[in-house]
Order: sequence, then structure tokens, then C-alpha cells
Amino acid sequence: MDQSTPPAPEILAHSLLAFWADAGVDCLYQDEATDRIAAGLSPPPRRVEHVAAPLRTAPAAGEPASDALAEARRLAAAAQDLTSLAEAIAGFEGCPLRFEGAATRSVFSRGPSDAPVMIIGEGPGGDEDARGEPFVGRAGQLLDRMLAAAGLSDRVFITNTVFWRPPGNRTPSLSEQALCAPFVERAISLVRPKMLLLVGGASAKAMLKREEGILAMRGRWFEWRSDDESLELPAMPTLHPAFLLRQPAAKKKAWSDLVSLVQRLDRPDRPH
Ligand code: URA
Repeated sequence: MDQSTPPAPEILAHSLLAFWADAGVDCLYQDEATDRIAAGLSPPPRRVEHVAAPLRTAPAAGEPASDALAEARRLAAAAQDLTSLAEAIAGFEGCPLRFEGAATRSVFSRGPSDAPVMIIGEGPGGDEDARGEPFVGRAGQLLDRMLAAAGLSDRVFITNTVFWRPPGNRTPSLSEQALCAPFVERAISLVRPKMLLLVGGASAKAMLKREEGILAMRGRWFEWRSDDESLELPAMPTLHPAFLLRQPAAKKKAWSDLVSLVQRLDRPDRPH
């Protein structure tokens, strides 16, 4: 192309959309563009009001998070099975992620309710938000292939540290994870897995309350304890499949983590 010829508008538009998609902007605010300046219109309402319409209002700024945490604990404790736990999560309005506009619904779990392994990821992405199930996008498909190769496909219950998609797929904050933690703990106490697989640094740090990076923690066994210390389980952190998609050379490490998890799971005659 002649250097002095500007690229065609559709090429520019395509490139800009690709840039936004890479940055995590993957849905449109409106189907039709409105020139609000030319029309003398006031700024559009925040998208959060639009998507959160059935959810009443967001918690007021400055509302003590402890109220929300107490509510999360109350709702989680009252759930007597996984169906009521999923309903309790769907009705919980205390996690600010719910009102941040990217998420359309809560995403709780998939997998058998008596699975011996519970996988806890970081938080739902765009595909999970759209389908309402964890780990169903590209990263989830890679996870599924690894689980199948390890003979674990029907032996895992999969959930996340938070149940609403963080905007732009950012890492959930510790306080967002803390607000969802009572539901995660309740899921563990209802499923009663033999062990946990913590997928990604944000999951490992939140669940184990440790500071080290995932590369230092992966492949090692830790003891996870519930808040009230009534439950204890072995837990292994491993690399996140989204990281493996970007760094395929690291798959070897994740595979060796899975192999040692299966060895421990299937070890005869020894306490887990
Ligand atoms: N990444 C996660 O950590 N969880 C999902 O459910 C999907 C992608």
C-alpha cells in the first residue's frame, strides 16, 4: 500500500475492534451508534443500570462490607443442597462485581455433586458469563482436555472464587473473593471432595491465604482450612489454563501437577 494512503475506514474499524477485544471489551453498549454531541443529548445511563434492572439497586457506596459478608454467610449456611446454594448466590447482591456491568448472571458450578476433586478457578470470563457455567471458554476447553487425559473428567466439581465476571476479565480482588468465600466454603462442605485443585494464582492466594506467586506454589500440597476450621482438605495450586494457552511450554508443569493429584487421589490405603 502507498504509505501516503490512509487505511480504509473498515480496516481501521476492524483493527480498533480487535484492540478492544484483546483488552476484554467484547460486547456492544448499543446496536446503533448515536452521535450524542450532535443530538445535544446528555450522557447515556450507566450500563450497570440496564443489565442490573432485575437485581434492584447496587449497594450504596460506603456501605460496610461486613454487612454483605454477614449476609453471604447467612445465605450460604441456610443452603442445604447445591441447588439452593446456586439460588442463594444468584440472589446475593452484596458482591460489587454483580453490578459492574460486564456480567449478565451468576456463574456457579458444573460437575457431579459428589466429585472427589473440587477445582476452584479465579472467576468467570465472557464465555462463562454468556453460558452460565464455569470454564467453558478456550481455557476451559483446554482444562477439559487435560482432565480427560488424566482420567478425571467425571471426577471433578468445578467452581470459582467469585461468581460474576470481573469487567474486562481483570483478576478478582481479595475483597470480592472474601465476599464470595462463604459460598465457596459451603460448596466444599456440601460436595465433600477429597481434595482441591486451585487453578491460577488468584485462586491459590485467596483460598490458602498465602502471598507467594503461583510459580512458587504450583505442584505442592497445602492444607486448606475453612474459616471456622471445621473442615480441612489437601489442596494443590496449579497453573491457569489461560496462562497455558499463552505459554504452551508450561503445559508440562501443569500436567505433572495433575499426575501427582491423581496419584494422591487413587493412592490405596492411605488417608488423603
Ligand atoms: N477462568 C477462570 O478462572 N474461571 C472460569 O470459569 C473461566 C476462566
